Amino acid sequence: MDVKTTRWTALQVMQDAPVIPVIVLNDVAHAVPLARALVAGGVRMLEVTLRTPQALACIERIAKEVPEAVIGAGTIRSTADAQAAAKAGALFGVSPGYTRAVGQACRDAGIALLPGVATGSEIMMAQEDGFTELKFFPAMQAGGPAMLKAWSGPFFDVKFCPTGGVTLQNAPEFLALPNVVCVGGSWIVPTDAMLSGDWARITQLCLDTAALKKKPA
Ligand code: 3PG
Repeated sequence: MDVKTTRWTALQVMQDAPVIPVIVLNDVAHAVPLARALVAGGVRMLEVTLRTPQALACIERIAKEVPEAVIGAGTIRSTADAQAAAKAGALFGVSPGYTRAVGQACRDAGIALLPGVATGSEIMMAQEDGFTELKFFPAMQAGGPAMLKAWSGPFFDVKFCPTGGVTLQNAPEFLALPNVVCVGGSWIVPTDAMLSGDWARITQLCLDTAALKKKPA
């Protein structure tokens, strides 16, 4: 399966590994070594957030130079973000909330979207537009595992990627829930490790997450 030409679905993005790293890059020079370090640790679905002026250039570099990575763009908040991300080579998008415009823009651009939700109404809006794999954001602040348990009744057909306040320590509690496929988090890409070029530490943090692998249902 060619990583770049595959049209990844949101479910495939979520099922690939227990953790999707939430990456903030301030330096284009960090993009490729970071992506390689993550891939070496078994984490290849990478969410580079559109939060810095360098983000799109970083996505472009990873798309071109790290063929094993499946590069995605996070913090997609507008049609323009979705278009720019896809143009830079992003194969999926993640958004902190949901709007119909963002959903449509990702569809038009041919990339999967993990829309962010924090309430029942937001889940219903995303579902109405055909999105059933969602990011629960900000997960800890918005109710944590207890919230997901409560949602599993009415939203029995929805799968979640909780993100926001998730750590190696609390991830197992989320991943034990039947409606959770993976978690998202920034803990596997510490800024100080990137600044000091300690790529081996980032690979090790990824390897540590292998133990989080979901048990078959
Ligand atoms: C974010 O979008 O900032 C993510 O939710 C990351 O959250 P974390 O830093 O708590 O993992």
